[in-house]
Formats: sequence, C-alpha cells, structure tokens
Amino acid sequence: MTRPPTEEITLAEAMAAIAPVGVRIGCRMIRDGDAAHLLPNEAHSIPARQPAMRRASGAARWIAHGLLAELGVKDVAILRTPSGAPVWPDGIIGSLAHDDDMAVAAVAPVGHIASLGIDVEPAQPLPDDIFALVATPADRTDAADRHLAGRLLFAAKEAVYKAVYPLDREVLGYEDITVDLNAGRATTKTGRKVGLVYGVVPLVVVLAFVERKAR
Ligand SMILES: CC(C)(COP(=O)(O)OP(=O)(O)OC[C@H]1O[C@@H](n2cnc3c(N)ncnc32)[C@H](O)[C@@H]1OP(=O)(O)O)[C@@H](O)C(=O)NCCC(=O)NCCS
Repeated sequence: MTRPPTEEITLAEAMAAIAPVGVRIGCRMIRDGDAAHLLPNEAHSIPARQPAMRRASGAARWIAHGLLAELGVKDVAILRTPSGAPVWPDGIIGSLAHDDDMAVAAVAPVGHIASLGIDVEPAQPLPDDIFALVATPADRTDAADRHLAGRLLFAAKEAVYKAVYPLDREVLGYEDITVDLNAGRATTKTGRKVGLVYGVVPLVVVLAFVERKAR
C-alpha cells in the first residue's frame, strides 16, 4: 500500500496536536533512497538488514536530525545499540518508529520528561490472534473507537516499552504492561508510571512519556 502524500501533512498536524509541552514530533513517508540519510556511524551501527528496514531507519533519523537541529544539536549520529534502543545526544531524549511506509520520531530536551517512546501503526483493526497475545484483563480501552481499540492497545504497549527500556534495561512482555487508555496512563511490572497521548487519524500514533520521579 502506498499512502498519498497528504497523509504526511495530516499526520504531522495530528501529532503536533497531541504532543506534550516541550516534545517535538515529526513524520516522513518512507521514500526510495532514504537509507542514504543514515550518517556513516549510524549505518554502521544498524546490523545488515533488508533494504526496506534500512530505508525506514534512514527516514526516522532524517526526521530526528531535523528535530535535533531545531534544538541547536547538529550532525549528531543516533546510533542503534545492540538492544535496539537508539542513543541520543547528552541532554536529549527521544524515540523512533516506522511502519511499512511512514516513519515518526519524537525528541525533547531532558526536563520534566525523563524518557519518551513512540509507535505508529496502520489505522486498522488488530487481528484477533495478536489481540489475544497483547491484551490482559486489566487493560482499559473503552474510551477508544471500538474498531481501533486493539490496535491502540498494541501501539501503546510498544511505545511504553520504548520509553521504559532505556530507564530500566529490562525486556518486558505485553503482559508486563497495563494500559488505561481512558486515563492516558500505563504501568509496568518494574513500577514505572507512564503517560500516554494518542491519535488515530490518519494513522494510529501513540506517544508514551515518563515524567521525572514518576516512579
Ligand atoms: C522495541 C520493539 C517493541 C520495536 O518494535 P518494532 O515493531 O520492531 O519496530 P518500530 O518501528 O515500532 O520501532 C523501531 C525503533 O524502535 C527503537 N527501539 C528498538 N529497540 C528499542 C528499545 N529496547 N528501547 C527503546 N527503543 C527501541 C529503535 O529506534 C527502532 O528504530 P531503528 O531500528 O530505526 O533504530 C521491538 O523491537 C522489541 O525490542 N521487542 C522486544 C520486546 C517486546 O516485543 N515486548 C513486547 C512489547 S511490550
């Protein structure tokens, strides 16, 4: 599926509307040749993978480099560690995500938010078999559109994982994260309390954030 370019504009507007104060978010439709946006050290840090994945990682870093430049941080490589977590420049937190043809990134100066996580997903119902893996009885999603509640739950848990992993260095499963979309909150088995904001048009995007000392 190739998305129309208007989706990039609509998504950028939707993400700007949900971003917490101080957090910059951007998106980019993944284009042929986007792997070339990887800085040499970034390209080296990303294990040899399919060209589509390198394009996606290049697109996400293109966004992040632009957002960092807005903060006065230029030409800094966002390396990928063996855990998969990206390395941000000193004083900056951030997160990257991509689906088949859209990349997103969020960055912020370290301040009242200690860590960020983001996920992007197609705005389509989550297949039942995946929902069964992701959902627990404690999750609350009734405020969300019924057709997209499962997809939102999935994206929220991935975003929470990306926000919490850099703090705790612990691999979590879906069952280790409890999401309350109604309240815009999640908790983890490591005791983290995580804030959530989300949008569903034109894509499902969830941003997770850990506030300082919110443990
Ligand atoms: C982190 C993870 C959830 C990402 O999911 P994904 O669908 O593969 O990919 P996404 O497009 O959503 O995100 C990819 C980005 O996540 C980021 N990322 C990967 N591992 C990360 C980690 N441990 N911590 C923080 N961010 C991470 C990277 O920036 C990556 O982008 P890059 O490859 O261009 O550098 C997944 O790779 C993973 O590590 N899973 C293991 C744990 C798990 O699945 N638990 C159940 C979910 S809670």
